[in-house]
Amino acid sequence: MSRNIIIAGNWKMNKTSSEAAKLIKEIKEKLPTSENKFIVCPPFTALEKVCELSKESIIEVGAQNCHWEEKGAFTGEISPLMLKEIGVKYVIIGHSERRTYFGETDETVNKRLKAALNYGLTPILCVGESLETREAGNTKTLIKNQITQDLKDISKTDCEKLIIAYEPVWAIGTGKTATAEQAEEICLFIRETLSELYSKDCAEKTHVLYGGSMNEKNAKELLSMPNIDGGLIGGAALKADSITEILKISNNIAK
Ligand code: PGA
Repeated sequence: MSRNIIIAGNWKMNKTSSEAAKLIKEIKEKLPTSENKFIVCPPFTALEKVCELSKESIIEVGAQNCHWEEKGAFTGEISPLMLKEIGVKYVIIGHSERRTYFGETDETVNKRLKAALNYGLTPILCVGESLETREAGNTKTLIKNQITQDLKDISKTDCEKLIIAYEPVWAIGTGKTATAEQAEEICLFIRETLSELYSKDCAEKTHVLYGGSMNEKNAKELLSMPNIDGGLIGGAALKADSITEILKISNNIAK
């Protein structure tokens, strides 16, 4: 079965609202037409502006996190309802930077995923191993545990709506990309895990992306792999030339 390619940019804690507006305008000028999905995930303060500026273009907008409650005494958090109301459609959940620096656990990832799905947001769930785990030969055990716990009590229908991003922690922002073969091996393993947890059909429908130092030089090789359905891109997503070039490259890959 064929899955369309998804190119998603994770801007992390970069770009003020006015800088974000400038970048989106630049991206729009260089944007190729595409059948593929193109998502940008700016910081919270730029979301509304970016949603507004992306109307009537192929650009869709995602947030970088959301809380599991609709409202309440959760200082510093943003609810899925708040995102929904301004036109956000996607939300990154469980990024390794949140797991490492902000105490995100598989339990909180699971809660956030369920809430996002309840509000009709499409989660981009991030999983991935540290260098230590890879060197100890425990990558697959860790990935399987993360997926199993993160998706606890999530139905098959909801699982099919998910985007899962395989992001080896050692490849994020380091310039050290996983080889296409390494990335493909784990993306395939994620699909096998979904097949075990749900069904083969569900595994075939779910999008699995690769993230970690993807850029216009390595995108073609990575995106050509049968089980890599797109990229979650950090550094290169902050440059209009690079991200639009990656989208162009994706247009020429037959899936
Ligand atoms: P990078 O980040 O492309 O800068 O490695 C990817 C990510 O963290 O999503």
